[in-house]
Amino acid sequence: MAYYQNPLDVTSLPSWKALTDHRLDLQNFSMREAFASDPQRFSDFSLSACGLFLDYSKNLITHETRDLLVSLAREAGVEQALHAMFEGQPINASEKRPVLHTALRRPVGECIMVDGRNIIPDVHQVLNQMTDVVGRIHTNQWRGYNDKTITDVVNIGIGGSFLGPQLVSEALLPFTQNGVRCHYLANIDGSEFREVMAKLNVETTLFIISSKTFSTLETLKNAQAARAWYLARGGTQEKLYRHFIAVTSNKPAAVAFGILEKNVFPMWDWVGGRYSLWSAIGLPIALAVGMSNFKELLSGAYTMDTHFRTAPFEKNMPVLLAMLGVWYSNFWDAQSHAFLPYDHYLRNFVKHLQQLDMESNGKSVRQDGSPVSCDTGPIIWGGVGCNGQHAYHQLLHQGTPLIPSDFIVPVVSFNPVADHHQWLYANCLSQSQALMRGKTRAEAEAELREKGLDDAEVQRLAPHKVIPGNRPSNTLVLERISPRRLGALIALYEHKVFVQGVIWGINSFDQWGVELGKELGKSVYQKLTAYEADAAEDASTQGLIDYFRGRHRG
Ligand code: F6P
Repeated sequence: MAYYQNPLDVTSLPSWKALTDHRLDLQNFSMREAFASDPQRFSDFSLSACGLFLDYSKNLITHETRDLLVSLAREAGVEQALHAMFEGQPINASEKRPVLHTALRRPVGECIMVDGRNIIPDVHQVLNQMTDVVGRIHTNQWRGYNDKTITDVVNIGIGGSFLGPQLVSEALLPFTQNGVRCHYLANIDGSEFREVMAKLNVETTLFIISSKTFSTLETLKNAQAARAWYLARGGTQEKLYRHFIAVTSNKPAAVAFGILEKNVFPMWDWVGGRYSLWSAIGLPIALAVGMSNFKELLSGAYTMDTHFRTAPFEKNMPVLLAMLGVWYSNFWDAQSHAFLPYDHYLRNFVKHLQQLDMESNGKSVRQDGSPVSCDTGPIIWGGVGCNGQHAYHQLLHQGTPLIPSDFIVPVVSFNPVADHHQWLYANCLSQSQALMRGKTRAEAEAELREKGLDDAEVQRLAPHKVIPGNRPSNTLVLERISPRRLGALIALYEHKVFVQGVIWGINSFDQWGVELGKELGKSVYQKLTAYEADAAEDASTQGLIDYFRGRHRG
C-alpha cells in the first residue's frame, strides 16, 4: 500500500524514540562550548547546493543528532515519498490528485504521465503561449483599446495567485525589462482597489485575472470592479480583450466573464495554488523580467529538484532544513519559526513562506484521517533585517519561547551605497552570533563593573543584561539574488515543507481549513444585507451584524 494511504505514526519509529532519549542527553548542550571544542564544527555542518550556501552549525545538534534525524527521515519513508511526488502518484489523497509543480520546471523531452498523457509537452506549450504574449507586449504589438502601449499590468488574484508572483517580480526588480510595471490587487477592500487604480491610466493598463478556480470571491469582485472601472473611463466592450486576460483551470468561467478564449492561460489541478508561481500564474513575473529570466527561475528550481532527488540525506539541503525544523517542533517544543532575510529584494519572502508552510502543514489529521500524534506545522513569521532588530528581535534574544530562525543574506549588493552592505552583512552575522553566544551573568557583571558601577548597581542590573544564548539558527548565504538562485531558494523551502509533511504523515497539498470561513462569509453577508434574514447562530456574530446595520441604516 502506498505510504500516503497508510501513513506511519512517526512517534512509534525507533529513531523517534532514540531522538527522545538523545534530547535528554542534550539538556545541558552548549553551542558555545561545542564551537570551542570542535574546530571542524562549521565545515561539518555546512554545505553548498544550487548557488546557495547553508551554515547550520549554530544549531542544538551534534553529529549524532544529525545521524538520528537522517534515520528518522529514512524510516518515515521520505525517499519513497519524494519519488512518489516526482513520478506523479496521487499523493494529495483527500483530493485524489498528483502533486506536480516540479513538472513545471522540467526540461523539454522529459516525460511525466498523468491519466495516460505526457504532461511535459503541455507545460512547454503554455510556456510558448506566455513567450508569445510577453513578446507582443514588450514589443508594443499588443496595445490598448486606442492603440497605446501597455505600461502597467495589474494582477488580480489572492493567496498563491498573488504571493508568489509578487515576491518574485519584486525580488527581481534589478532584472526588469521593457518598463512594464506590475501591480497587485488581492484583498476585497475598496481602499486597496482605489489606491492601486489611482496610479493607473486605463488606456495603458492590462489586467490579469489569476485564479486557479475562477471562483474566489475576492478575485471575482475585484475583476468585476476593474472591468467597471475600465468601461467607465472610456474603454470599450469591443476592445475589452486587449485589457483583460486570465490564468485559470476554469476556462468556461473566464470566457463567461468576457475574456477571449485564446487569452485564457491554462492551469492544471495537479498544481496547488501556493506552488503555482512556476505556471502561467507567473505571467506578471515574465512581463516584469522577460521570458528568458522566467525560464532561468524555472531552471534554478529544477537544479534544486535534482539536488533534492539525488543528494544523500546527510548532504541534502531541503531534508536537513526540514529535519532541523522537526527537531525543534517535536523535541524542543518550538511553536514558531522566524525567517529573517537581510535583503530588501526579499521583503515579501516571509508572506510567501507563510502560505507555503502554514497552508501546507497546518493540519491535525494524517492522510488516512487519523489524528496526528505530535505537533505539526509551526507558526511562520519574520521580516527583513535590520528592521526586525529594532522591533521583535528582543523576544528572540531574551523572550521565554525558543524560536529557531533562518537568516538569508546576499554577499553582494545590487545597489552599493557607501559601506551599507558591509554593515547589513555584519548585522546579520552578529544577530545569529548573539543568539548563539548570549551573555552570561559573569560577563554581564564584568561589563557593568568596567563601566564603573558600584556593586549594588551591578547586582541590580546584571539579571536584565543576561542573554541566555544557545538559540538556534540557520544562515543561508547567496552571492546575490538572481532568477536562478531565487528559483532554487523557493524550491528549497517547498521541498522542506514537503519533507516535514511526510514526517508528520499529513497531506501538505489540500487546504480544507479555509473552506468553513468562506461558507460562513456568504451567510454573514446575507444577514448584513437582507432585512428579513434569520438571526445568526451566535449572539456575538449577531451583535456585530446589528452594529454594522445600525451604522448603515442611519
Ligand atoms: O482559500 C485558499 C486558496 O484556495 C489558496 O489555496 C489559493 O492559493 C487561493 O485561495 C486562491 O485560489 P484561486 O487561485 O483559485 O483563486
